[in-house]
Amino acid sequence: MKIELISKSSAFTRNLGSLFTRVFSSQDTILLSGELGAGKTTFISGIAKGLGLKENLSSPSFTILNIYRIGSKKKLVHADFYRLNTVDEVLNAGIEDYVYDNNSFVCIEWGDIIREYLKVNFLEINFSYFLNNDSSGLDNSSGSGTGPKDFYYNVAENNLDQKRHIVFRSSNIYWDKKLETFQTLLAKIKNNIFTA
Ligand SMILES: Nc1ncnc2c1ncn2[C@@H]1O[C@H](COP(=O)(O)OP(=O)(O)O)[C@@H](O)[C@H]1O
Ligand SMILES: [Mg+2]
Repeated sequence: MKIELISKSSAFTRNLGSLFTRVFSSQDTILLSGELGAGKTTFISGIAKGLGLKENLSSPSFTILNIYRIGSKKKLVHADFYRLNTVDEVLNAGIEDYVYDNNSFVCIEWGDIIREYLKVNFLEINFSYFLNNDSSGLDNSSGSGTGPKDFYYNVAENNLDQKRHIVFRSSNIYWDKKLETFQTLLAKIKNNIFTA
């Protein structure tokens, strides 16, 4: 199953992350891919907010693993493997301890390298820039029922905000079901939380 949508602002991307926590469980792992600055960390900061964390998520460009405690036993695990080049390096970072832990919400940026080694059902989320950042392209299909099945909401824009293309892709029944629920939630809140 695949959900494609367009984010028009960093607030949108963050809110999307918060909403995602409605289907994100503490046994789950998500892999976030896409160019630097495309919005992966912004999405995860929304997840942190949705999970009730008060502190700001640091961008772990130097730290490979950041662990945030949620209550007494759950954790949000934010991994960024941008600087790692081999599977060994990734495994040495200790990610497996969390991936196979039922109390850890695991979010991995640049995790493609361990895709094949993960023995869990993971969800992939890809973030990308719009090459042409005007109102052409995917936007035209919004609400028309043709083309990519995207959600497009009007949000207040400032000049730092840009469009991003976000794609959720699952290849297992476990995540297919969750994405279906997520899609229903998205349709419901359309004009609410995304008008930040
Ligand atoms: N629609 C958008 N979604 C997410 N971030 C956006 C958007 N528009 C502009 N930005 C900006 O792009 C940057 C994204 O940074 P970040 O989330 O750290 O990217 P990544 O983790 O993918 O490298 C931030 O500076 C953010 O303010
Ligand atoms: Mg990042």
